[in-house]
Amino acid sequence: MSDFLIAPSILSADFARLGEEVDAVLAAGADIVHFDVMDNHYVPNLTIGPMVCKALRDYGVTAPIDVHLMVEPVDDMIEKFAEAGASYISFHPEASAHVDRSIQAIIDAGCQPGLVLNPATPLHYLDYTLEKLHHVLIMSVNPGFGGQQFLDSTYDKLRDVKRRIDQSGKNIRIEIDGGVKVDNIRAVAEAGADMFVAGSAIFNAPDYKAVIDKMRSELSH
Ligand code: DX5
Ligand code: ZN
Repeated sequence: MSDFLIAPSILSADFARLGEEVDAVLAAGADIVHFDVMDNHYVPNLTIGPMVCKALRDYGVTAPIDVHLMVEPVDDMIEKFAEAGASYISFHPEASAHVDRSIQAIIDAGCQPGLVLNPATPLHYLDYTLEKLHHVLIMSVNPGFGGQQFLDSTYDKLRDVKRRIDQSGKNIRIEIDGGVKVDNIRAVAEAGADMFVAGSAIFNAPDYKAVIDKMRSELSH
C-alpha cells in the first residue's frame, strides 16, 4: 500500500469551534479526522464521546472519522459510535475482555476495525486477529495526552508490524499516533506507517495547510 493518509487529531483543536476546525483541516488537505475518546479510567484524561461525533456528522463532515477508543470496557462504545457516524474504530486490546468479540462487533456495526498497540504492548495481540483488521494503530507515545515526544523504540516496532502484515499478504494499514511532526514523518513512513495522526503539529501551527503540505512533501521523496 503506497498512498499516505494524514489524520489530524482533533484533541489539539479548539473545542469551542470544533466544526470550523474540522472544516479547516480538511480544506487544508487532511484525509481523515482522528477522534480521541478518553474515559479518565483507561487513560488519565477525559475527552469526547459519540454525541460529538454525531454533531460533526450533522454539521456536514463527510470525511472518514477515525475513532480511537481509549476506554475500558470497550464494547458498549462500539455500537454508539457506529450509530454516531464513525468510519474506523480502534481500541486497546488490554481494555477488552474478549478482543476477537470487540473486533467482530466493530465489523458487524459496519465500521472498519483497528487494534492499538501501546509502546510497551507486545505484538502477540496480532496473533489470530491480524487478518480481520483494517489497520494496526501503533502508539508512539503513551496514550492520554497530545503534545508528547515521539518514542524512538517505535521504529523497530513499525518494522516488525510491517513485516507481519507483508507476510499475511493482506492490505492492512499501519497508523502511527503520537509526536508525529514534519521532521520525523518521513522516517516513520520508511519504517512502515501509511496513516499519520498529528495533533499538536497541525493544530498548534498558524497555517494548517503549510504543515500538511510540508508533511506531504516529506512523504513524496
Ligand atoms: C494521545 C492521542 C493522540 C494525540 C496525538 O493519546 O491518541 O491522538 O492527540 O497528539 P500529538 O500529535 O500532539 O502527539
Ligand atoms: Zn489517538
